[in-house]
Amino acid sequence: MNVDNVTLSDYTGRQLRNLCAEAGFDEADDTPVDLLRELLGPAGRRRLSEEPLWSSDVSDDASPVEFSFAFDDNGGRAIRVLGETMAEDPGPAANIAAARRFLDVVTARYGCTADRFDAVQDLFLPAQPHGKFALWFSLIFRPQAPPHLKVYFNPEVRGPERAPELVAEGLRRLGMDNAYDIATAHALRRGSRDRFSFFALDLDDSPLSRVKLYVSHESGRSEDVEQAATAVSGVDVAEIREFCRLVGGGSGPFTGRPLISSYSFVEADPGRPGNYSLYLPVRDYVPDDETARSRVRSFMSRRGLDQADLDRALRAVTNRSLRERAGLIAHVSLRLGGFGAGTTIYLSSEAYGGTPVQRSADATAVPLADSPVGS
Ligand code: TRP
Repeated sequence: MNVDNVTLSDYTGRQLRNLCAEAGFDEADDTPVDLLRELLGPAGRRRLSEEPLWSSDVSDDASPVEFSFAFDDNGGRAIRVLGETMAEDPGPAANIAAARRFLDVVTARYGCTADRFDAVQDLFLPAQPHGKFALWFSLIFRPQAPPHLKVYFNPEVRGPERAPELVAEGLRRLGMDNAYDIATAHALRRGSRDRFSFFALDLDDSPLSRVKLYVSHESGRSEDVEQAATAVSGVDVAEIREFCRLVGGGSGPFTGRPLISSYSFVEADPGRPGNYSLYLPVRDYVPDDETARSRVRSFMSRRGLDQADLDRALRAVTNRSLRERAGLIAHVSLRLGGFGAGTTIYLSSEAYGGTPVQRSADATAVPLADSPVGS
């Protein structure tokens, strides 16, 4: 089969179908693949031999899709897709308009509520958005359950200097006035190296639907994220340290792509975060995916998860050799706290070739000596 003739929707749809099958979902259910197609819109109709419609920051190779496999400590499973919707004639403002249309379609179809989206959208969706993205979606699939939708806004969409103000106002409008102070006191302690990177909302109408606030820690160390995790009561920071050691290969500083912290707040208990999650962009800290795999395997076994599930997930999305390069396993995250703990593996679709080799080597490599002239 010539992969170049396949469209982006067909290629990533097949990966998603395989992942859902590995997770034990009903194989006759086309909902995940249909929703993915809808989300990708015109970008999905292009063949892989064509240029990507728009250079999405969802993944390193501009694919507007990234998969993840979430393993709850209590045995629950979810397959998720992070994606960006693009307009036929793409651009920052046109993509927002296309994303809104996608949102209208899915909220009508699945009865999600857009109330909270509506409460903050004028803050985060200006007429002239700046930064790497304005609106991303996460599609969340669990067996025997309707799909869930999450939206991600960019706190820096009006420029980095306005991020704190946007986040504070967004939280205030959602009735979570204390959240800003808690997050800044625990996670923004190192000046401009700690910054708000995402503001996300669950779009379902339940007292447990979350507002998630993400902070990136440029050159962060394990101790910085352990400190961030103390905002959530009952979190054992030794688990964070062990995650950094086993998955990240040490305690840092992590000078490639940053560690990211996130706090989940719910309406039922808006005064303090119920969960803390740590995201580690493992692809920047390993020479290849075989190394990433073995690190994730040791962490999974420590948490009592079945390592074979990881291999099944990897095979669902690719048949390339894991030793070839890094980037298939993009991130790994650990979630801790009262709303339930778990581990999530983020997998690149690599539809447009995956993480460029040069990039993935940068963070780990010792600087090269100058190459001899003329070689
Ligand atoms: N590609 C971006 C990054 O690696 C954004 C992103 C995609 C991301 N998936 C993620 C960030 C999962 C954190 C966790 O930073």
